[in-house]
Amino acid sequence: MHILHSAISNEVTRDWQDINYQITPKNLMYPIFLTEDENEIEPIEAMPGISRHGINRLKEHLEPLAAKGLHSILLFGVITSLPKDNMGLHADSPQNPVINAIPIIRKWFPDVLIACDVCLCPYTSHGHCGILQSNGSINNPASIKRIAEVALAYAKAGAHVVAPSDMMDGRIGVIKEELITNNLAHVAVLSYTAKFASVFYGPFRDAAKSKPAFGDRKCYQLPSGASGLAKRAASRDVEEGADMLMIKPALAYLDIVRQTKDAHPEYPLFVYQVSGEYSMIYNAARSGAFDLKAAVCEALISMRRAGADVIISYFTPVVLDWLCLRSKI
Ligand code: PBG
Repeated sequence: MHILHSAISNEVTRDWQDINYQITPKNLMYPIFLTEDENEIEPIEAMPGISRHGINRLKEHLEPLAAKGLHSILLFGVITSLPKDNMGLHADSPQNPVINAIPIIRKWFPDVLIACDVCLCPYTSHGHCGILQSNGSINNPASIKRIAEVALAYAKAGAHVVAPSDMMDGRIGVIKEELITNNLAHVAVLSYTAKFASVFYGPFRDAAKSKPAFGDRKCYQLPSGASGLAKRAASRDVEEGADMLMIKPALAYLDIVRQTKDAHPEYPLFVYQVSGEYSMIYNAARSGAFDLKAAVCEALISMRRAGADVIISYFTPVVLDWLCLRSKI
């Protein structure tokens, strides 16, 4: 008979079994929504506790986090009064909130790494992530050309990392090429490698005002059972020169995280604990179903255990607080 409970019968033996998958500031990236109205703070209804910030309100938000060790941020632009069109003109225009914010954030927080989400959906009139043909399907060559232009603009503005989330075929190679040709080879590419078509993005589309005007994203985001396609996508992105890989969402896709880490152990692996995962845990804790900290920590540890090196999480501010209190995570 194999007795296992003897191995966890007291706190010390339990601790020995509990492999220490650390969560440190280095393992966290904080997503930020930037509005064009520079003086605005707009709470996001579907994501209690999270707001969109105008650049003039960002310093007061980030300062305490930087003091607690904030390592990296992921910027999303949100436009409301600038017009949206079929090419996503304002994804890289001089009025784009991300382009304007990057140099300012760099100056304020020289030690914080800045990554930029690269996509067209917050800027296109149709709300899709690429450029459409007249029949409504994706025009892939035109899309990746445009996506690469946008990535280049963020890199020129001073982004340390560009993170294409559009899922168009071939965009990693084209972005890399564009960066190298323009003397920006030092800018890293974090590929949203396996991005599944997920209901868990619901609150984000409210946050980024990027809901598709018609149809859905199932033609370019992966079906939830597509572990084979996720594998092919990872090999392809590696071949095209991605520096880092990402799986998204996180909690429902931990097997994909493990499969990707095992196949490409030499690449830092990111997971995105997306808006719906945030809202789900937050609301369940608020309704008394469980303790917020215990739930967040368990979820984050599961992601580290599955092989994630960095977790993109809206919980980053509270986790930094907990880390500062030196409580066990
Ligand atoms: C844009 C993008 C999305 C997310 C990140 N980048 C939405 C989508 O693809 O529908 C989702 C992030 C979240 O839910 O927190 N392409």
